[in-house]
Amino acid sequence: MRRILVTGGLGQIGSELVPYLRDKYGYENVIVADIREPGEDVGPFVKLDVRREEDIIKVIRENDIDTIYHLAAILSARGEQNPQLAFDVNIRGLYAILEAGRKTGVERIMVPSSIAAFGPETPKNNTPNDTILKPRTMYGISKVTGELLGLYYWEKYGLDVRGVRYPGIISWKAPPGGGTTDYAVEMFYYALKGEKYTCFLREDAVLPMMYMPDAIKAITMLAEAPSENLIHRTDFNIQAMSFSPRELEEEIKKYVDFEVEYRPDYRQKIADSWPRSLDDSAARREWGWKPDYDLQAMVKDMIENLRRKLGV
Ligand SMILES: NC(=O)c1ccc[n+]([C@@H]2O[C@H](COP(=O)([O-])OP(=O)(O)OC[C@H]3O[C@@H](n4cnc5c(N)ncnc54)[C@H](O)[C@@H]3O)[C@@H](O)[C@H]2O)c1
Repeated sequence: MRRILVTGGLGQIGSELVPYLRDKYGYENVIVADIREPGEDVGPFVKLDVRREEDIIKVIRENDIDTIYHLAAILSARGEQNPQLAFDVNIRGLYAILEAGRKTGVERIMVPSSIAAFGPETPKNNTPNDTILKPRTMYGISKVTGELLGLYYWEKYGLDVRGVRYPGIISWKAPPGGGTTDYAVEMFYYALKGEKYTCFLREDAVLPMMYMPDAIKAITMLAEAPSENLIHRTDFNIQAMSFSPRELEEEIKKYVDFEVEYRPDYRQKIADSWPRSLDDSAARREWGWKPDYDLQAMVKDMIENLRRKLGV
């Protein structure tokens, strides 16, 4: 049986990962940690700033934690507005988690990376797993740092750090936290409320995306993969679907009348430095990765769930 701590557990991914882990490992065995207070009852919870190593060590010891899903982070768009905060939380915070994990003998730490680890020189189509990593955003720099530090702690200390490079994640339960692909979630809300949407990316900005059930499937499959099968550890490409804002708009229009205006802002520059699609053969080979949702299946499920949630 595992005792799991989920940092940043109130965020977009944590809100859906935590119920999944509680179903699998037991309600009381999964503890949510976040810097903000929950707005509702979220079960076992601790308020924790991941930059404070002593506090992390205390939480690990008091709760007998053996596995950490480290989701606390400042995302790409927010990170470009406050790069100092992104460095502090994403790099200093990760270092504190790794050190706390090493000192207390934690067995496994899952640390999501991102397609933001790539940069303008990276091949854009079917991007290889092992390729040029020269990101120009503080967020991307923190993700490459995380991949390398995770590998270092594994090889030097046997602390089993693993991670996938998430693309843009689409979901309906919790709002996204300030990324460059947030437009994809916002579009659904505006469409279903019958409001015009102004998109902050260009209509032809193709990016890799993933529906939340696949994001949860990926990180939990990798967490449980036999160690001896893994050649990579902290840097797996995973691909599910790639589309442009215009293609998403057209797919949503199969369900509702909808108007979108395209007015790219500073986030377009971030998107321009990211790949359009990823070669995920390493993840497929080493731990059996396979997505369940393409664009059509995702849009159908999003519309059904959001209609119910919003009562429209
Ligand atoms: N959502 C995506 O599209 C996406 C894509 C690629 C990678 N990722 C990665 O997945 C992970 C989780 O992302 P998410 O979308 O759930 O992010 P999110 O912004 O929705 O949630 C992050 C959570 O971290 C918390 N947090 C911020 N600073 C903290 C601190 N100092 N101490 C403790 N908690 C703190 C926030 O309160 C928030 O609840 C991150 O590492 C992110 O980089 C997400």
